Amino acid sequence: EKGTYPHFMLKEIDEQPFVIRKIIQEYQNENDEIKLDPEIRAAMKACDRIYIIAAGTSYHAGLLGKQFIEKLANIPVEVHVASEFSYNMPLLSEKPLFVYISQSGETADSRSVLVQTKKLGHPALTVTNVPGSTLSREADYTMHLHAGPEIAVASTKAYTAQMAVLAILAVDSARAKGIDLDFDPMQELGIAANAMEALTDQKEDLETLARDYLSVTRNCFFIGRGIDYYVGLEGSLKLKEISYIQAEGFAGGELKHGTIALIEEGTPVVALATQANVNYSIRGNVQEVEARGANSMIISMKGLDKEGDAFVIPHVHDLLTPLVSVVPLQLISYYAALHRDCDVDKPRNLAKSVTVE
Ligand code: F6R
Repeated sequence: EKGTYPHFMLKEIDEQPFVIRKIIQEYQNENDEIKLDPEIRAAMKACDRIYIIAAGTSYHAGLLGKQFIEKLANIPVEVHVASEFSYNMPLLSEKPLFVYISQSGETADSRSVLVQTKKLGHPALTVTNVPGSTLSREADYTMHLHAGPEIAVASTKAYTAQMAVLAILAVDSARAKGIDLDFDPMQELGIAANAMEALTDQKEDLETLARDYLSVTRNCFFIGRGIDYYVGLEGSLKLKEISYIQAEGFAGGELKHGTIALIEEGTPVVALATQANVNYSIRGNVQEVEARGANSMIISMKGLDKEGDAFVIPHVHDLLTPLVSVVPLQLISYYAALHRDCDVDKPRNLAKSVTVE
């Protein structure tokens, strides 16, 4: 039920900090150790490469999952769009582990890959919000997102839940390999949940940004580097699916290799700046587009912020910034869709779960 909320999407955006806290609870035992099916731990240890298979928003969560697993647990990860992998399987490593990420657990494109990789005898882990779903039943192992039912077609809380669960999986695998981490992951996730909650109280500022930048435009670009690039891809998908603004996410440095031709007087460009190592270079990219007339909106993280930034998110662990930086993007999309009189919860041409290939 929506309760007092005008739309499920807004309710689900607001639920995100509670979902992250629920995940922390569910994946922790009484000794504050990570609680995980020992078979999943063993499968992570036994594999020589992980293949993440997903679609849409879940694919974007997978791109960040790769960052977590490679940077923390030192296991190589490939992330594939399910519908592409299905008809064009890449060369596989000797001991692959397949990880299927799916909110619904019913996505036909992902299931088609699962059927093929099971036939080849490769182990499969499904990360899903629906434990009894097809992808969950047909895989060897399941990790549950604990996000509660997601009703709005545009995925929000499942995305942040997917990242939290993948971060926990990455930390667990690092520890299982004896890798020392210099932070407490559950504590850092708790800090991220608090930061998300603080942002959901800043809706008016985000509504103003949506109105000023997006109420009449035809298109919009999202740029970022590294982790911020992947969050920009998700921000652009959210915006296009519910507001019908043509939105595209690009790596900051790639823009000048062609796409910058599309920047005109007033074109909105949303830039994410949450990573210290690329803070200088992404701001250089913003100057490049501004010089061509872009109307830029910088969303930065406390500590890396500069005067004139449109919105500043609280400081969190650098790997966990996506959980927080995506919240203003979700809310900006929501308000842009409202300003443009779109059906937020049921956008045209879309269904909640895509059960055809
Ligand atoms: C976007 C969205 C879709 C889904 C995609 C995969 O907001 O909802 O892109 O993420 O169809 O769905 P699942 O995760 O159910 O496999």
